[in-house]
Formats: sequence, C-alpha cells, structure tokens
Amino acid sequence: MQTLNPACPAGTQNRVSIIGAGKVGSTLAHGIISRNLADVVLLDIQDGLPQGIALDLMEARGLEGHDRQIIGTSDYADTANSDVVVITAGRARLPGMSRDDLIETNAKIVIEAAKKAIAHSPNAVLIVVTNPLDVMTHLAWEATGLPARRVVGMAGVLDASRLQVFIAAELGVSARDVQTMVLGNHGNMMVPLPRYCTVGGIPITKLMDDEKIDRLVQRTRQGGTEIVELMKTGGAYYAPAASTCLMVESILLNQFRLVSAAVYLQGEYGIKDVFLGVCCRLSGQGVEQIFELDLTEKEHEALQAAADLVRQNVDRAKLIFPNAAL
Ligand code: LAC
Repeated sequence: MQTLNPACPAGTQNRVSIIGAGKVGSTLAHGIISRNLADVVLLDIQDGLPQGIALDLMEARGLEGHDRQIIGTSDYADTANSDVVVITAGRARLPGMSRDDLIETNAKIVIEAAKKAIAHSPNAVLIVVTNPLDVMTHLAWEATGLPARRVVGMAGVLDASRLQVFIAAELGVSARDVQTMVLGNHGNMMVPLPRYCTVGGIPITKLMDDEKIDRLVQRTRQGGTEIVELMKTGGAYYAPAASTCLMVESILLNQFRLVSAAVYLQGEYGIKDVFLGVCCRLSGQGVEQIFELDLTEKEHEALQAAADLVRQNVDRAKLIFPNAAL
C-alpha cells in the first residue's frame, strides 16, 4: 500500500471500504468521514440499506463540515482500490450466547466478504471486526492469501478502552490519563495486564488494591456481554466503531500507534500460527512490529490458553468450511 505523508493527512483521496452496514459498520463510516480521514464505500448484501445510510450520512456533510464522499452499494466492484478494507459483516450475539457460538454463521460470511473485497483491493490492509474476532481474522487471512502483516483483528483496542474507562471512573481521573494493556483473545480468555496499566505513569497496582483491580478486570472481560444483556437485541457498537476508527486512522496516516490487536504470531511468546491479541505498531503497511512484553508465568499460561482456544475454534471452522483457503 501507498505510504502516506503524515505531514498532510487532510484532503487525501484515501478510500476505506466497510463490508457490512449494520450498527458497527455504519457508525464506523460516520466516524471516518466526520474525522475527514477518507472517502468511504459502505457495502451490504441487503440492497437499499447501504445506499440509504450513505445518503443519510451525505446529507449531514455540510453540518459536520467535511466533503467526504460516501457510496452505499451491494456491488464489490465499487470497493476497488481501497487503502483499507474493514469487515464488520455477520451476526451479533444475543443474550445467553458467547462469541464462539457465532463461528458457523459468521465464518461463511467473512470468508466470502474477505475474498470478494480483496479481489478488488489487493493492496489494502484488511481489518476484521466480526466475532469471534480472532477466529474470523485467521479465516480472512487464509481466504485472501494476503501477507500476514496486512491482516489485523480489532479488539484489543476495544478491550483496553473499556479497562481504561473503568479505571478512570474508579480513580476519578480523566480516561485520557489512563494507559491500559490487554492481550489474548476477544472473549472470556482475554488477558488484561494490570502490571502494565498506568495512570499518568503511575502503575495502577500502586493506586488500587488487588480486589478492586480484579473487579475491573472481570468487568472488562465481560464488557461486551454486559452490553448485550442490557440491549437484548444486539451488541455494542459505538466503542467497537471508535476502536476500529483509531486503527484505520493509524494506518491511513501512517501514525505508528501502539495498540493491542489480533495479529499473526510466528513464535512470539512461544506461540505460533495463530492470530491473537498482542501489543503492536500499526502503520500504512499494516502491522509493523510486535512487542513482546515480559510476562509472569501465570500471565504467560493465560496467553497460551487463549491461543489454544482460538486454534481449536479455527480448526472447528475449517472442518465446516474446508475450502475456505485459496
Ligand atoms: C463487544 C463485541 C463487539 O465486545 O464483541 O462489544
């Protein structure tokens, strides 16, 4: 992909295609154009839906002060030459379901969407948002044959943001002064790392007792579920869309943001051949570098357990869709 000059981010003709015009996809489209990051193509198989959303978003352009184009379509040809492709298509959870319950339904949707979109934008960075996130990212990578560094799953940013806000609320400080680190999968086996969470540079372990930290960590693990149980008809979308928007921005503007995201591990932490949430840098080329943190034995075991679960679920999906790869 073309590397952009960070000195002139505005006014570029960047193009982001979002596959899936549900709540996350449409909220992300709004985030991208209202921040003047790129023109957006919003695609959905439900003809009329993306066109209607695009028209609605376009009609706010003057009010929101940008001139970004937004195209709603059901035709993948319209997504051609995108710098970034984001896949949000798929079913969301209902109360009582785990993200892994969505494997069968969403694998088919994601494999097809990834193949069709990347056929028209072979140089794009691909961001996968559909759940179960780590599994879908792996399937999208295999289905497209893209280099691993150009395929990344969103979720660590979201999980870290939830923990950030919970810590900020507990301590009565601005969320902007809280830095958090969450590794692992996007699910019950995620690995929040309180030892690497700080407030204005002060480790939270010096500001809160273990019982409080455990409560916030547990709430973070259940963050998505808490919202599904409240909404009953679907899941969160504002924070997931904002998290994805941050990743899109880092890629388009070549910002080298340090984020947690699902990336392909090739021996880091002693883990191989699986997409898992780790700390990495995101640039115009995709995943620039993976940072391997120093983990305790317990943290390392938790990360390994998360990797094992993702691997099992990828194998399960591949049994159902043996021809997913190229
Ligand atoms: C959540 C969904 C996006 O965590 O997985 O809210």
